Amino acid sequence: MLSPEYIQYRGLLLPPMAHNAESLEYAQNFSVEDTDVFVVTYPKSGTIWMQEILPLVLNGGDLTPIQTIANWDRVPWLEEKRLAELADKLTSPRALVTHFPYSLMPPSFHSSKAKVIYVMRNPKDILVSSYYFHQMATFLEDPGTFDEFLEKFLEGRVMFGKWTDHVKSWKRAELGDRIMFITYEEMVQDLPAALRRMSDFLCCNLSDDAIQKIAKHCSFNSMKANRMSNFSLVPKEYMESDKSPFLRKGISGDWKNHFNAEQLARFTSVLSKELEGESFSLPWSLD
Ligand code: A3P
Repeated sequence: MLSPEYIQYRGLLLPPMAHNAESLEYAQNFSVEDTDVFVVTYPKSGTIWMQEILPLVLNGGDLTPIQTIANWDRVPWLEEKRLAELADKLTSPRALVTHFPYSLMPPSFHSSKAKVIYVMRNPKDILVSSYYFHQMATFLEDPGTFDEFLEKFLEGRVMFGKWTDHVKSWKRAELGDRIMFITYEEMVQDLPAALRRMSDFLCCNLSDDAIQKIAKHCSFNSMKANRMSNFSLVPKEYMESDKSPFLRKGISGDWKNHFNAEQLARFTSVLSKELEGESFSLPWSLD
């Protein structure tokens, strides 16, 4: 049975706090420009991190956006209610984020030259991050036990559906040099190198000094201290940060502290089956 707390949109569950019929129609009618850059993520893959990084990569390292604009207005979600209020104020090149699978991108995206940075994260860490996020976000369904939440995740009874469907949709998309794939793990391991890749992809030609400056200001600790990015501006009735902060651990491999052997075997077997026969391989082992 579907959760009464979520709305359903083309087979996906979405939390109504941020989405409604108007916002989803607005997204479909959104006029994408050739210079737009979309960050695409399955939830809990590093969306907020990219909301910090992308404006700085695009503007050469000027910190004004991350110091003066809350992340959700700085790089708005295509599918969320806020975009209608903000769209006219965004300056080119516009940076947007979306959790949409490829099939839900608006028609104007397909005819544009807009670029995409798709951030992938080890799904076991996504599950753990999402489990804590569901505990603190009052607008999301209670996750239940870790075991129960794992089942929901595997069945796609979570916001934005199955992780495997999301990844497959974007991996299969024929976008040529309009899309760049990057992993959360790669960003954790060597942020300056990841920034260099983004800069090259977006033809931003960032200097080494600018790269170092951006890396410093987009570190986990800097973001945790930045009230424009750490969700402390969100009222407690929506996010109970004392249960778990949005910027929780910021590491890769936390799944090892949460999965038992049985859960790992089940997770691996379901995901491997769903990815069987795909032409792409994952950058991490599922075991
Ligand atoms: P954890 O819960 O594992 O800590 P999203 O923005 O897509 O919802 O993803 C949230 C995850 O990204 C959280 O993971 C959060 O801590 C992590 N994150 C955000 N900013 C980060 C940063 N600067 N460095 C590392 N991880 C970051």
